Amino acid sequence: MRVVSGIQPTGNLHLGNYLGAIKQWVAMQHQAESLFFLADLHALTVAIDPRELAANTIEMAATLVACGIDPDTAILFNQARVPAHAELCWLLQGTARMGWLNRMTQWKDKAGKNREGASVGLFTYPVLQAADVLLYQATHVPVGDDQRQHLELARDIATKFNLDFDVALFTLPEPYISPAAPRIMSLRDGSAKMSKSDPSEASRIALIDSDDVIAQKLRKAKTDAEPLPGEAAGLADRPEARNLVGIFAALAGTSVDSVLADHAGQGFGAFKPALADLAIAQLAPIRDRLTRLLDDRAAVAAILERGAERARALAAPTLLEAQRATGL
Ligand code: ADP
Ligand code: NA
Repeated sequence: MRVVSGIQPTGNLHLGNYLGAIKQWVAMQHQAESLFFLADLHALTVAIDPRELAANTIEMAATLVACGIDPDTAILFNQARVPAHAELCWLLQGTARMGWLNRMTQWKDKAGKNREGASVGLFTYPVLQAADVLLYQATHVPVGDDQRQHLELARDIATKFNLDFDVALFTLPEPYISPAAPRIMSLRDGSAKMSKSDPSEASRIALIDSDDVIAQKLRKAKTDAEPLPGEAAGLADRPEARNLVGIFAALAGTSVDSVLADHAGQGFGAFKPALADLAIAQLAPIRDRLTRLLDDRAAVAAILERGAERARALAAPTLLEAQRATGL
């Protein structure tokens, strides 16, 4: 079993990114041979600030390591340092059909009404994603609902390439179903996702927040005046309460029902400090490791370079076979 997964290098990582994405990766690295990459090539499909991209790549790598990705176990690298991603992407562009890409709902959503003004890369983005996983003969790819269609496309591209060139080259990747990742909502509005693009800093807990800031943001988090119910069904119409209990459960690695069993009847005056203690206990070590890692950015760059070296070695035979198959 070989898992490949990428994430765009962005700054300002928050609790939602940790519980919804990074924590799953940390668990995954022990269950399968794992390649995790920072999708810096994908980042170029929209307007970027080059200096920010470079800094975010290092910061994201440091964050992943601080959160528990072990670069000796998993292969951690940035896409741009493994040229085979872009090379295979070009080969696969001869296989992918315009009609297939035109049907991608993410393309339609992201380009909106301004298709003429969108970058070509935004359109062919899913072909690069196909290259990202086919290059390593990934057997499994972790996908959220929004990425299912792109994985299907990767399978279609692999199938057509194998058929067109009469080779048994590409493995068809399956979705990797990990335990459902929680969706963490804003601390100010239970109907909005916790997000780095929310203008209110009080809406999210950043992974670099100090203990005091974490406690203060949770104390001020929007809630209601009801005590906690005995089971999850009792939170159905209480999005803010449900979110805080969900955060507790995700941090503790337990279920919402089990959190409620322990806290039923409690008001938020008691629950919030308990949540703050738990959040600080888990996030403080991550923040401290992150701070130390960012004190030596060259060491983080060296981790990525070592990962890229391992990734290049794994990618080389597949790229060579793809080139041979196409007569290059
Ligand atoms: P943001 O919404 O802050 O811009 P991204 O879109 O960069 O975050 O997401 C990076 C990863 O973190 C993705 O895998 C995404 O599913 C996950 N993620 C982002 N926000 C949340 C959230 N509020 N709850 C759970 N997972 C999240
Ligand atoms: Na986003």
